Amino acid sequence: MNTSVALIGFMGTGKTAVGKALSEKLGKEFFELDPLIEQKAGKTIPEIFNQDGEIGFRELEIAATKEVTKKKNAVIACGGGVVLNKINIDRLKKEAVIVYLIASPGAILKRTLNDDEERPLLKVADPALAIRELLRFRKPFYERAADITVNTSKLDVDSVVNQIITKLREYEGFR
Ligand code: S3P
Repeated sequence: MNTSVALIGFMGTGKTAVGKALSEKLGKEFFELDPLIEQKAGKTIPEIFNQDGEIGFRELEIAATKEVTKKKNAVIACGGGVVLNKINIDRLKKEAVIVYLIASPGAILKRTLNDDEERPLLKVADPALAIRELLRFRKPFYERAADITVNTSKLDVDSVVNQIITKLREYEGFR
Protein backbone atom coordinates (compact mmCIF):
# COMPACT_ATOMS: atom_id res chain seq x y z
CA MET A 1 0.00 0.00 0.00
CA ASN A 2 1.41 3.41 -0.99
CA THR A 3 0.66 6.37 1.26
CA SER A 4 2.75 8.97 -0.56
CA VAL A 5 2.59 10.81 -3.86
CA ALA A 6 5.67 11.86 -5.83
CA LEU A 7 5.41 14.55 -8.48
CA ILE A 8 7.78 14.27 -11.41
CA GLY A 9 8.03 16.23 -14.65
CA PHE A 10 10.11 18.82 -16.43
CA MET A 11 11.06 22.18 -14.89
CA GLY A 12 8.10 24.55 -15.00
CA THR A 13 5.37 21.92 -15.07
CA GLY A 14 4.06 23.08 -11.67
CA LYS A 15 5.41 20.39 -9.34
CA THR A 16 5.96 22.79 -6.43
CA ALA A 17 2.69 24.73 -6.58
CA VAL A 18 0.65 21.60 -7.29
CA GLY A 19 2.49 19.61 -4.63
CA LYS A 20 1.76 22.18 -1.90
CA ALA A 21 -1.94 22.41 -2.78
CA LEU A 22 -2.26 18.64 -3.17
CA SER A 23 -0.65 17.98 0.21
CA GLU A 24 -3.15 20.30 1.88
CA LYS A 25 -6.12 18.65 0.21
CA LEU A 26 -4.92 15.14 1.02
CA GLY A 27 -3.80 16.04 4.56
CA LYS A 28 -0.28 14.78 3.88
CA GLU A 29 3.06 16.42 4.60
CA PHE A 30 4.78 18.33 1.77
CA PHE A 31 8.45 17.82 0.92
CA GLU A 32 10.45 19.32 -1.91
CA LEU A 33 13.76 17.79 -2.93
CA ASP A 34 15.58 20.93 -4.14
CA PRO A 35 15.45 22.85 -0.82
CA LEU A 36 16.41 19.66 1.05
CA ILE A 37 19.46 19.34 -1.22
CA GLU A 38 20.38 22.99 -0.66
CA GLN A 39 20.07 22.60 3.12
CA LYS A 40 22.23 19.50 3.19
CA ALA A 41 24.87 21.02 0.88
CA GLY A 42 24.82 24.40 2.61
CA LYS A 43 24.69 26.10 -0.78
CA THR A 44 22.23 26.99 -3.49
CA ILE A 45 21.49 24.82 -6.53
CA PRO A 46 23.37 27.21 -8.89
CA GLU A 47 26.37 27.11 -6.52
CA ILE A 48 26.28 23.30 -6.48
CA PHE A 49 26.20 23.16 -10.29
CA ASN A 50 29.04 25.72 -10.50
CA GLN A 51 31.32 24.12 -7.96
CA ASP A 52 30.51 20.41 -8.22
CA GLY A 53 28.97 20.14 -11.68
CA GLU A 54 25.77 18.37 -12.60
CA ILE A 55 27.28 15.05 -11.42
CA GLY A 56 27.80 16.50 -7.94
CA PHE A 57 24.22 17.74 -7.90
CA ARG A 58 22.87 14.32 -8.97
CA GLU A 59 24.76 12.62 -6.11
CA LEU A 60 23.12 14.97 -3.63
CA GLU A 61 19.75 14.37 -5.32
CA ILE A 62 20.14 10.60 -4.89
CA ALA A 63 20.93 11.06 -1.17
CA ALA A 64 17.97 13.44 -0.66
CA THR A 65 15.59 11.07 -2.48
CA LYS A 66 16.74 8.23 -0.24
CA GLU A 67 16.05 10.33 2.88
CA VAL A 68 12.65 11.56 1.78
CA THR A 69 11.39 8.13 0.77
CA LYS A 70 11.68 7.08 4.44
CA LYS A 71 8.64 9.30 5.11
CA LYS A 72 5.08 7.99 5.06
CA ASN A 73 2.03 10.02 4.08
CA ALA A 74 4.01 12.54 2.08
CA VAL A 75 3.63 14.57 -1.07
CA ILE A 76 7.08 14.89 -2.62
CA ALA A 77 7.92 17.44 -5.32
CA CYS A 78 10.97 16.14 -7.16
CA GLY A 79 13.42 18.09 -9.29
CA GLY A 80 13.00 17.72 -13.05
CA GLY A 81 16.02 15.45 -13.43
CA VAL A 82 15.19 12.94 -10.69
CA VAL A 83 14.18 10.37 -13.31
CA LEU A 84 17.70 10.29 -14.77
CA ASN A 85 18.92 7.93 -12.05
CA LYS A 86 16.98 4.69 -11.89
CA ILE A 87 17.77 4.24 -8.19
CA ASN A 88 15.63 7.31 -7.45
CA ILE A 89 12.62 5.92 -9.28
CA ASP A 90 13.05 2.50 -7.66
CA ARG A 91 13.02 4.16 -4.23
CA LEU A 92 10.09 6.46 -5.02
CA LYS A 93 8.02 3.61 -6.48
CA LYS A 94 8.28 1.61 -3.27
CA GLU A 95 6.56 4.33 -1.22
CA ALA A 96 4.66 6.54 -3.63
CA VAL A 97 2.28 6.75 -6.54
CA ILE A 98 4.21 8.67 -9.20
CA VAL A 99 2.33 11.53 -10.82
CA TYR A 100 3.86 12.90 -14.01
CA LEU A 101 3.05 16.51 -14.87
CA ILE A 102 3.33 17.45 -18.53
CA ALA A 103 3.44 20.90 -20.14
CA SER A 104 4.12 22.07 -23.67
CA PRO A 105 7.59 23.52 -24.44
CA GLY A 106 5.94 26.94 -24.87
CA ALA A 107 4.25 26.81 -21.47
CA ILE A 108 7.50 25.63 -19.87
CA LEU A 109 9.47 28.49 -21.42
CA LYS A 110 6.92 31.06 -20.23
CA ARG A 111 6.74 29.68 -16.70
CA THR A 112 10.50 29.26 -16.25
CA LEU A 113 11.20 32.76 -17.58
CA ASN A 114 8.57 34.24 -15.29
CA ASP A 115 9.35 32.64 -11.95
CA ASP A 116 12.38 33.69 -9.96
CA GLU A 117 13.90 30.28 -9.42
CA GLU A 118 17.39 29.97 -10.91
CA ARG A 119 17.79 26.89 -13.08
CA PRO A 120 21.38 26.29 -14.23
CA LEU A 121 20.33 23.98 -17.09
CA LEU A 122 18.25 26.78 -18.64
CA LYS A 123 20.85 29.55 -18.15
CA VAL A 124 22.01 29.20 -21.74
CA ALA A 125 21.94 31.35 -24.86
CA ASP A 126 18.85 29.63 -26.25
CA PRO A 127 16.63 28.30 -23.43
CA ALA A 128 13.83 27.36 -25.86
CA LEU A 129 16.23 25.01 -27.66
CA ALA A 130 17.56 23.62 -24.37
CA ILE A 131 13.99 22.88 -23.27
CA ARG A 132 13.15 21.06 -26.51
CA GLU A 133 16.34 19.00 -26.43
CA LEU A 134 16.13 18.06 -22.76
CA LEU A 135 12.45 17.20 -23.14
CA ARG A 136 13.14 14.92 -26.09
CA PHE A 137 15.86 13.11 -24.16
CA ARG A 138 13.90 12.83 -20.92
CA LYS A 139 10.40 12.00 -22.19
CA PRO A 140 10.92 8.21 -22.16
CA PHE A 141 12.34 8.38 -18.62
CA TYR A 142 9.27 10.28 -17.35
CA GLU A 143 6.87 7.99 -19.20
CA ARG A 144 8.50 4.85 -17.85
CA ALA A 145 8.30 6.14 -14.28
CA ALA A 146 4.73 7.49 -14.37
CA ASP A 147 1.72 5.85 -12.73
CA ILE A 148 -0.60 8.80 -13.42
CA THR A 149 -0.16 11.58 -16.01
CA VAL A 150 -1.75 15.03 -16.07
CA ASN A 151 -1.25 17.67 -18.76
CA THR A 152 -0.98 21.03 -17.00
CA SER A 153 -0.48 23.30 -20.04
CA LYS A 154 -3.93 24.85 -19.95
CA LEU A 155 -4.96 24.19 -16.36
CA ASP A 156 -4.67 26.23 -13.17
CA VAL A 157 -3.25 24.67 -10.00
CA ASP A 158 -6.66 23.77 -8.52
CA SER A 159 -7.78 21.98 -11.67
CA VAL A 160 -4.54 19.98 -11.79
CA VAL A 161 -4.97 19.02 -8.13
CA ASN A 162 -8.57 17.92 -8.73
CA GLN A 163 -7.55 15.79 -11.70
CA ILE A 164 -4.81 14.13 -9.66
CA ILE A 165 -7.22 13.39 -6.80
CA THR A 166 -9.77 11.86 -9.18
CA LYS A 167 -7.10 9.64 -10.70
CA LEU A 168 -5.69 8.68 -7.28
CA ARG A 169 -9.15 7.49 -6.20
CA GLU A 170 -9.18 5.09 -9.15
CA TYR A 171 -5.66 3.95 -8.35
CA GLU A 172 -5.54 0.67 -6.51
CA GLY A 173 -2.96 0.45 -3.78
CA PHE A 174 -3.14 4.07 -2.58
CA ARG A 175 -4.64 5.46 0.56
C1 S3P B 1 16.63 20.26 -12.70
C2 S3P B 1 15.46 20.78 -12.21
C3 S3P B 1 15.41 21.70 -11.07
C4 S3P B 1 16.62 21.46 -10.15
C5 S3P B 1 17.91 21.53 -10.93
C6 S3P B 1 17.95 20.50 -12.07
C7 S3P B 1 16.58 19.35 -13.89
O1 S3P B 1 14.20 21.50 -10.32
O2 S3P B 1 16.52 20.21 -9.52
O3 S3P B 1 18.02 22.84 -11.43
O4 S3P B 1 17.56 18.65 -14.15
O5 S3P B 1 15.52 19.33 -14.57
P1 S3P B 1 12.74 21.98 -10.86
O6 S3P B 1 12.23 20.91 -11.78
O7 S3P B 1 11.94 22.06 -9.60
O8 S3P B 1 12.92 23.29 -11.53
